[in-house]
Amino acid sequence: MSSDKIDQISKEIESASASNKEELEAYRMRYISKKSVVGELFAAMKDIAAEEKKSYGQQVNEVKQLAAAKFKELIDQVNQQENQNRGLDIDLTLPPTQVPLGGIHPLTATRHRIIEIFERIGFNLSEGPEIEDDWHNFTALNFPENHPAREMQDTFFIEKNPDITLRTHTSSVQVRVMESEKPPIRTLSPGRVFRNEAISARAHCIFHQVEGLYVDENVSFADLKQTLYHFAKEMFGQNTKIRFRPSYFPFTEPSAEIDISCLICGGEGCNICKGTGWVEIGGSGMVDPNVLENCGIDSQKYTGFAFGMGIERIAMLKYQINDLRLFTENDIRFLKQFRPLL
Ligand code: PHE
Repeated sequence: MSSDKIDQISKEIESASASNKEELEAYRMRYISKKSVVGELFAAMKDIAAEEKKSYGQQVNEVKQLAAAKFKELIDQVNQQENQNRGLDIDLTLPPTQVPLGGIHPLTATRHRIIEIFERIGFNLSEGPEIEDDWHNFTALNFPENHPAREMQDTFFIEKNPDITLRTHTSSVQVRVMESEKPPIRTLSPGRVFRNEAISARAHCIFHQVEGLYVDENVSFADLKQTLYHFAKEMFGQNTKIRFRPSYFPFTEPSAEIDISCLICGGEGCNICKGTGWVEIGGSGMVDPNVLENCGIDSQKYTGFAFGMGIERIAMLKYQINDLRLFTENDIRFLKQFRPLL
């Protein structure tokens, strides 16, 4: 076996090409497999004169390496070619295509903002079950059995067991907190609530509330007003006005409805503020001593204030949305507008 033959094979290998799997396999058979021409060169070793064996062996090894390197090159070429044919021309150096990012739902963003404002002034968070018993949703909150005040909130009852309801407010969570903790209590309970109401632009049977509770020695109505005034300015801007309207809730005495100046019409009157220039954001009041006692808190020593607000209502004002059904319809054209909230 002459070195001319080796040279010739090397040249063949160098100029070999393959444009598909079959040609690749043909190359493998001819230059890589046991029965390849390179294999034959190894087999011929036994006929080589002893003194030439070393240099011959080196040459053959080089050819073998050359064949292997070329094979790898051809595999890459063929793979690339196949990807191209399939329309998958992968260029790993290209910058990635942008994955479309979702946005935070406006109700979630609003809830986060409310929590942030109250956390900064010392409120912690509390949660409770959405399916409640009568005690936590009504009785402990001073709604006597069969009292007409229960009709203030159209309640979903479980048919077979009227003791079980879908909670109509998160005041139920505050009862749970007062039962298990000692004052001072400063807690915020955000959550989903349920009322048997017809769905319209302003009302829904499922909505979200944030309720706040502060129980300590010497808590006064002035503390309540100042806390909510602080909240309104932080949430809606420093020029926001707030007003309290006398009201009635079984669990607070005195009670007040909280209104803020309408941000949609600027106080001129629109369908959201029903032409009054003011919008109600929730209820509030001083915790009725009966409620404190029901929860095992000494009403001689402690007083407290409570408030409850609708998150939908606040989001509508903040983002100037005039129909609360939009929050749950999942229309992407609506949700898209909140992307910057990320
Ligand atoms: N729980 C009341 C409601 O859902 C709101 C409220 C909370 C009122 C706390 C006063 C005090 O209507």
